[in-house]
Amino acid sequence: MTRIDFDKYEDFYAKRTEGMRSSVMRDLMAIIARPDIISLAGGLPNTESFPAKTLAEITKAVSVNGTAAALQYGPTEGFEETRNNIVEVMAQENTVADPDNIIVTTGGQQGIDLVTRVLVDPGDVIIAEAPTYPGAIPSFCSFEADVIQVPLDNDGIRTDLLTQEVEKLAKAGRKPKFIYLIPDFHNPAGVCLSLERRVEIVELAKKHELIIVEDNPYAQLRFEGQHLPTLYSLDQDLNVIYLSTFSKILSPGIRLGWMVAPSPLLAKFNLGKQAADLCPSTLAQKIVNQYFREFRWQDYVEEVIKVYRTRRDAMLAALEEFFPEEASWTHPQGGFYIWVTLPDYLDTADLLALAIEEQKVAFVPGSGGWVDGSGANHMRLSFSAVPEDVITEGIERIAKVIREQMDLYRALRGSE
Ligand SMILES: Cc1ncc(COP(=O)(O)O)c(C=O)c1O
Repeated sequence: MTRIDFDKYEDFYAKRTEGMRSSVMRDLMAIIARPDIISLAGGLPNTESFPAKTLAEITKAVSVNGTAAALQYGPTEGFEETRNNIVEVMAQENTVADPDNIIVTTGGQQGIDLVTRVLVDPGDVIIAEAPTYPGAIPSFCSFEADVIQVPLDNDGIRTDLLTQEVEKLAKAGRKPKFIYLIPDFHNPAGVCLSLERRVEIVELAKKHELIIVEDNPYAQLRFEGQHLPTLYSLDQDLNVIYLSTFSKILSPGIRLGWMVAPSPLLAKFNLGKQAADLCPSTLAQKIVNQYFREFRWQDYVEEVIKVYRTRRDAMLAALEEFFPEEASWTHPQGGFYIWVTLPDYLDTADLLALAIEEQKVAFVPGSGGWVDGSGANHMRLSFSAVPEDVITEGIERIAKVIREQMDLYRALRGSE
């Protein structure tokens, strides 16, 4: 076998690749897939509950009625029918969108990439929550953004600190290119942005003429409590770009998402998408559109919500039973994630290594949500993809590793 000389290619890489980095979740994918590991790491939808018969019926109908079109290139912005279906999904979130203001993307991830690609020059500021979606960090870093992260609490991003940050930047003659927010059932923190803060942020955007990027893939997955209005629906000044995806309400495997934006921005996103991949998958769109024609898509969402709620409850109960009292965690009303805070002398990246090796269990270490790698005493636990008994077992195993490390720390401190 030819030995690979990695240095051989060093001089070929573009300068901007220096900032490129992998997301912690992608790094964990290989471990998550190991059958001997209990994974509370991946934010994976429970695709097992999608009826195989339904998928067979819709794919058959797509091939029988339109093989040629399903296999052909399509428009960059996506089929009109797909965009109309997206309007229907957004209506369920009490948000009115115009199909002409929508681009169908290759997953929600492409929306993040396109917004950054089109708006950010090297050194430009992006404001994000601390923590933020670990998968957004590689996009922000690829385009060499200066990411400023503003802490969140149980009500989402701290608007007092956000306002301070925007004003501080303004004094220095700078302005963020956009503020990236995940308002509902935040990934990784599990919290929702309160209504008051949503209103405040829309006002702040109006006052300072800012762009808000609202990334909202979990909006439909509410188990209890009141639905909150999207920032997009509260905004009257065309300051909000809305991103979402079919990944969490149907399937991440079909890789279809969308972005809604004012037409001048949309035209640029369209150009960016042409360069990236010409058009969204036509076959995947035909499947989704057939599904929307034949079935009530909300039925499946209602079905999976029941599964996720039961799993969330199992995880909360297990945390209560097994985790030490020094730990605290969020109580999400929807979505996939619970965010745990441990004593600040613990580093969850070290804990993860031990958890995998000694206890065969995985989670996402908190530092994945920060560009500068802080947040080491947090962890993200995902309840979406694992049955209740396995969740309980997984939490018991993680608790063992935490307690072991806490005992070790106390023993070392005692012997100082
Ligand atoms: C906040 C957030 N944005 C975007 C994405 C990416 O979505 P997709 O799988 O549709 O690309 C995810 C996926 O987990 C997410 O949690």
